[in-house]
Amino acid sequence: MEVTVAKSAGFCFGVKRAVDTVYEQIEKGQKPVYTYGPIIHNEQVVEDLAARGVQVIRSEEELERITEGTVIIRSHGVPRRICDKIKAQGLTLVDATCPFVRKIHRIVEQESEKGNHIVIIGSEPHPEVEGIKGWASGPVTVISTEEEARSFVPENGKKVSIVAQTTFNYNKFKDLVEIFSKKSYDISVLNTICNATEERQTEARTLAGTVDTMLVIGGRHSSNTQKLYEICKEECKNTYFIETLVDLDTKPFQSFGRVGITAGASTPNKIIEEVQKHVRIKF
Ligand code: F3S
Repeated sequence: MEVTVAKSAGFCFGVKRAVDTVYEQIEKGQKPVYTYGPIIHNEQVVEDLAARGVQVIRSEEELERITEGTVIIRSHGVPRRICDKIKAQGLTLVDATCPFVRKIHRIVEQESEKGNHIVIIGSEPHPEVEGIKGWASGPVTVISTEEEARSFVPENGKKVSIVAQTTFNYNKFKDLVEIFSKKSYDISVLNTICNATEERQTEARTLAGTVDTMLVIGGRHSSNTQKLYEICKEECKNTYFIETLVDLDTKPFQSFGRVGITAGASTPNKIIEEVQKHVRIKF
């Protein structure tokens, strides 16, 4: 049986880095360790970390009550205010913000200091967008629809600096920027979209087109895994959506030689490997 696992299956670079950071802090024996928000949208990972003593801070008020320990910032990043608070409270800050997101924070900080009106093309209230907003020291507006772009007016005729949420759809971003370009404002556009999602989808499509059976692993409520499933199904009718190894035995899984495997952005490598091994041995 030939089994191919997509190279881009599972965690993107930024999420992997953040999850690894938490395990490194545990290994260093740091105590107590907190993450500001769940490190990833994956129950198994969050439960495993909880079993190792990692606690999740769910709000700013909760943070204010903590008096000692290490606080890890997840890949989405946070507003500058939160970093300042962690330091002011005498806690150790470990910043696992994805470097691509951190870059947006820096741009927003600098452009804002120049006096520009910041426009974030993204979806509110996504935590990444909340974080980006929190690095502006002046006017900042989040825009996700054409209507919002059309009705936007910069404060006091200020210059406009546009950035994007890393996971925003590129075509939609282009259309929105087009609307801004037609207005006679002074604008600067920085395309800060990350291509990790697109790469994963492109690779899944290509792989699904060359195999007899395709397995897509991911959380039931994960929209990016659902999207991967739809893409693969278009190319390969024997495509199965599974959450863990257990589902594999309950699915009418039929294999005809070549099997392809991909996984959503929050699927840990461990699960991908388990499925891969199981398929090789059992079928
Ligand atoms: Fe992942 Fe960072 Fe891109 S978290 S999706 S690599 S912006």
